[in-house]
Amino acid sequence: MNLTSLTRTKSIEQIQRDAALGVGDGHDTGLKKALGVFDLTSLGIAAIVGAGIFSTIGNAAYNGGPAVAFLFVFTAIACAFAALCYAEFASMLPVAGSAYTYAYASFGELAAWIIGWDLIMEYAIGNIAVAISWSDYFTSLLAGYNLHIPEYLTMDFLTAWRGYDEVNALLASGQTLEQIRQTAGMGGVYEAYMAWMNAPVIGGLHVVCDLPALGIVLLITSLVYVGIQESKRASNVMVAIKLAIIFLVIVLGAFYVQPENWSPFAPNGAAGVLKGVSAVFFAYIGFDAISTTAEECRDPQRDLPRGMIYSLIICTVLYVMIALVLTGMVNHKLLAVGDPLAFVFGPEGANLPWIAGIVAISAVIAMATVLLVFQLGQPRIWMAMSRDGLLPKIFSSIHPRFKTPWFATLVTGFVVAAPSLFMNLTEVTDLTSIGTLFAFVMVSGGVLVLQNSPQKIERKFQTPYINSKYIIPAMYVLVWVGVAVFDPDAMKNFFSAVDPNDPTLSAFEVLRHKIPLAVYILAATVLAWYSFTKSLSLIPVLGVLTCGYLMTELGITNWIRFLLWLAAGLAIYFLYGRSRSKLNR
Ligand code: ALA
Repeated sequence: MNLTSLTRTKSIEQIQRDAALGVGDGHDTGLKKALGVFDLTSLGIAAIVGAGIFSTIGNAAYNGGPAVAFLFVFTAIACAFAALCYAEFASMLPVAGSAYTYAYASFGELAAWIIGWDLIMEYAIGNIAVAISWSDYFTSLLAGYNLHIPEYLTMDFLTAWRGYDEVNALLASGQTLEQIRQTAGMGGVYEAYMAWMNAPVIGGLHVVCDLPALGIVLLITSLVYVGIQESKRASNVMVAIKLAIIFLVIVLGAFYVQPENWSPFAPNGAAGVLKGVSAVFFAYIGFDAISTTAEECRDPQRDLPRGMIYSLIICTVLYVMIALVLTGMVNHKLLAVGDPLAFVFGPEGANLPWIAGIVAISAVIAMATVLLVFQLGQPRIWMAMSRDGLLPKIFSSIHPRFKTPWFATLVTGFVVAAPSLFMNLTEVTDLTSIGTLFAFVMVSGGVLVLQNSPQKIERKFQTPYINSKYIIPAMYVLVWVGVAVFDPDAMKNFFSAVDPNDPTLSAFEVLRHKIPLAVYILAATVLAWYSFTKSLSLIPVLGVLTCGYLMTELGITNWIRFLLWLAAGLAIYFLYGRSRSKLNR
């Protein structure tokens, strides 16, 4: 095999030409140009504010305490580095493929395919997570109006099965079903048990599935199918509503803050705070998604960078305030719930049930907009891959009337809808976070590659160049010294094959969990060296380092799943895309 062909890149000019040749007269991509900077900022917020802040942040606050606000700041900084890099690429390559296209221009075809495949984790799998959360809020909202959907039609198979097992064990130990139902924190488990018990059984199989999740995906897919104009209008209205409600939560909640809840600020230390990485990062995902609408923008080179950065700034401010208000209103130990924003206005918090109801309605709206943007993004990435010959041609076919990539939109609908009937929330959230962080690392790295490329590239937005020559090596040394001085135990434990908390664990078990951090340290060392010798640009280097670090916090199990996913993608590339790539012609 000719290995150099795997790193063959597409020139910037060629990418722009190919996108323009997609359909039509050679100057028009066939998509409708409907978006300005306001719409893009709004789409960014639409994509960002969703299941993360309405749902998964509950556990993060429970583990980290009020200090989770710091995690929001740190994660926002990591995202900001990546956002600047996305912005630079978007102004250089205003075509629909987003990180996939950027990787094609900087690292070559193989990396581009890997990123294209990886982005399925962000968009399609991310949307499965959001659909599941949407369904949770929706069913409890209906229950508030005394409309009950049978439990077995509102949850995934695995949750029901685990619930059944857990309750059975408690019953065997002598508890009654009523006692279990009344135990604090057991409501969900009891529901899961009931779902399993009441589910119809067909051929020995309990039919448990999440119908509302399926319903919302189908609804959103139809909207996206019909057109960008309709999607834009729907999203603008929904964003206005969700921002108003979030604002209300912050302002009203502030009156109920009891400062003693902020002390201790980090009850479980740094380790507790870092447990929230996946959830907090998930809450920020989305600003990058607007780059997939590049061909539907009126002035993408000017407006895309602004849209991404504005939406990220607005959401960061909101998130930090929400984190402080939530952890100030109730003790963090109460926040391990799936609907924390509604919870703090319930009986254990401010006791304003009408606000809790409004929050639940806005959560349903907020998550619908996330679904909308991601359902828009996924088909556009596939469209770009199909134009390059890496996916069948029909993925880039544009609907003659609606001007949308109709086939890719339908496939996305199917790929998200079917698993959302059966899959479990936590697993899909983690996969989405690791997949997206990887894309951020690659895009930041891509900026570094292109900044040193001989291609003459016109950019309307450029990440400000700050020479990293001394800064990065100095930071590198400082971090080592800092850890050695302030947390010598962490340093010692890292190099030890014994777990101080559980000495019975085998060396293999202990060491395997250290692999992500070890890989990171190695990569950071190499990058520090290159920063010094090649005077790399500081912001993209920090993008790689911060997002890479967040990846290490997601644990070996997620890394293994992620690598398996990439391996499957590679197999498809070698069996299908490689020989059909347009670069062969
Ligand atoms: N940031 C998006 C959400 O929280 C993915 O739903």
